[in-house]
Amino acid sequence: MLPLSQGIHVAMQEISIIQPDDWHIHLRDGAALQQTVADASRYFARAIVMPNLTPPVVNVSQALAYRQRILEQVPAGRQWNPLMTLYLTDNTSRQDILDAHHCDHVYAVKLYPAGATTNSDSGVTDWERLTAVFETMQELGTPLLLHGEVTDSTIDIFDREAEFIERRLQPLLQRFPALKVVLEHITTTEAADFVATAAGNVAATITAHHLLYNRNHMLAGGIRPHYYCLPILKRSRHQQALLSAATSGNPRFFLGTDSAPHARDAKQAACGCAGCYTAYAALELYAEAFAAAGALDKLEGFASRNGPAFYGLPTNDRMLRLQQSTWPAPHNLPLGNDAMVPLRAGETLQWHAELVS
Ligand code: NCD
Ligand code: ZN
Repeated sequence: MLPLSQGIHVAMQEISIIQPDDWHIHLRDGAALQQTVADASRYFARAIVMPNLTPPVVNVSQALAYRQRILEQVPAGRQWNPLMTLYLTDNTSRQDILDAHHCDHVYAVKLYPAGATTNSDSGVTDWERLTAVFETMQELGTPLLLHGEVTDSTIDIFDREAEFIERRLQPLLQRFPALKVVLEHITTTEAADFVATAAGNVAATITAHHLLYNRNHMLAGGIRPHYYCLPILKRSRHQQALLSAATSGNPRFFLGTDSAPHARDAKQAACGCAGCYTAYAALELYAEAFAAAGALDKLEGFASRNGPAFYGLPTNDRMLRLQQSTWPAPHNLPLGNDAMVPLRAGETLQWHAELVS
């Protein structure tokens, strides 16, 4: 038996990194913005804002109006820039892409295969119709952000990302080899390998929850709806492949939380919806994953350098300090008039992040 009072000393770790950005977030609209914008702007400098509202953000004037509603909710004294995106539909025109290119606040175009995920009903059903759109994006260097899952109901939900790469992404890149593409929130070995070996115009975002969890966390010993997101958590070996990719130092992998708020009752239901809310502790969760992998030295590249480099933007000037210290995650957060249950609710977080300069 070990003596009880051995005075075990655990060295507390601390690192400082360049201020990070979030290259994939859902803020929603209306009353929800108060919480989501406060969380998103706490220490990130910029965020790529997803356009899957109902109805979706399909043109520049809608994107600018949405941006204005977002900016009204930024707490006083914070400098934070929401980078807007357009939602691609079968009816998106070449002119919509030109408008986006000439707008200082629109940075990318998001493609949801129709039916693939939350608020994707207006998404793309006919890729052939978009030839002129893809051509124009390739020419102008407009990033195409992909929800990378097929929607074929005969394909197993755990295989939909790998199928998408074969059926959609490879043919797309054969036709448009210079198109700038971000495969969003990747979840599989297949996606990590594809991006690592693809040309320099192809990148991927990785969420904190896909680095920290696998499908056992969601399904073993009971169904936990707050771990349910799309693309769905995969088996452990895929989680390990994502950790290897994120900590590899390869500049084509970068941070995108995919923080996606949903009211508690919409998730804790017979047919619960997809999305995990992580924005309230995003960097803390990533730091935990990187520290567990012994790769904290790779966090700055992933969180603060690789994204701006891919988007052709400067890195941020300020610094963020991450300290190992425990704090309790809230059980609930407000989402307009509803409550939402964030990822890790009621459990302990291991890191604390704050801007220091
Ligand atoms: C997202 C949402 O709720 O908008 N949900 C999710 O499970 N990730 C949509 C998405 O990014 O797929
Ligand atoms: Zn998303």
